[in-house]
Amino acid sequence: MQFTQSLIVFLSALAVTNAKPPARKPCTTTSATRPTSTLTESVTYVIPSNGGSTPLASPPANSTLQHIAVGQGIQNYTCTTAGALGTSKGALAILYDMTALYPGSGASALSEADFEAFPARVLNTTAQPTFDASNLDNPFPADAALKVPGLATPLQVVGHHYFDSALVPTFDLSPELFKGVKTTDIPAPADADKGLTGEGAVDWLALSSNGASITIDMVYRIFTAGGVSSACTTVGDIQSVPYTAMYWIYV
Ligand SMILES: *[C@@H]1O[C@H](CO)[C@@H](O)[C@H](O)[C@H]1NC(C)=O
Ligand SMILES: *[C@@H]1O[C@H](CO)[C@@H](O)[C@H](O)[C@H]1NC(C)=O
Ligand SMILES: *[C@@H]1O[C@H](CO)[C@@H](O)[C@H](O)[C@H]1NC(C)=O
Repeated sequence: MQFTQSLIVFLSALAVTNAKPPARKPCTTTSATRPTSTLTESVTYVIPSNGGSTPLASPPANSTLQHIAVGQGIQNYTCTTAGALGTSKGALAILYDMTALYPGSGASALSEADFEAFPARVLNTTAQPTFDASNLDNPFPADAALKVPGLATPLQVVGHHYFDSALVPTFDLSPELFKGVKTTDIPAPADADKGLTGEGAVDWLALSSNGASITIDMVYRIFTAGGVSSACTTVGDIQSVPYTAMYWIYV
């Protein structure tokens, strides 16, 4: 019941903001099964959900953390009004496993401050991925581990994030799949990294499954860096703004 209502709210919001049908978006991005994240059994992973003005809702007690990932990619916007910010038109991001960097979780663990700043560090110190705009079915480059300056071990790809043809936020961590609906949306904290052009950090989010997911129940987006739209000059322009974020993925 609750799910149906939030889906309707979500869909009617889309109807308002997207008068013309969205372009076809990637439906499947990989058939390969990727390595799974390794969680340390003796560690209690606590999502840092209260960095914003109001905390994001905690994950349900019966949910289990499955991955901590850093997403590196672009937030897309279309310009509908000159002088106004663009309208969100989805995103593309490569998800790299950073579970082993969780403070206190083992040999690769970072300090709390470095862990929280990690998405900004990835944005600042690694090359932006190149997406193939001409390949709507799979704009992602072939999987390649991400070398982050100062980290001994490159980060492995655990999946892709994109928006499907109905503009549903999708996380493909094959064989796991998440189709989400936004449940909470709070501004990034004032000290969040403002991105490569100082545009500002996208919101922190909690998403729950829209019912079409495989295994994954919830996804959180926190410690965002960059990704905000800037004022439009020409109606019809598309902005693709580099961003990174930390994703906590629960089953
Ligand atoms: C988890 O708990 C929520 C209530 O917090 C409940 O609605 C849901 O059915 C539970 N899921 C499972 C798999 O037990
Ligand atoms: C990233 O770069 C910005 C702008 O130069 C800087 O303010 C910020 O401290 C850097 N953050 C990290 C984690 O490197
Ligand atoms: C975002 O824009 C890029 C080009 O900048 C394009 O390759 C990609 O398909 C767009 N993605 C979405 C979800 O709109």
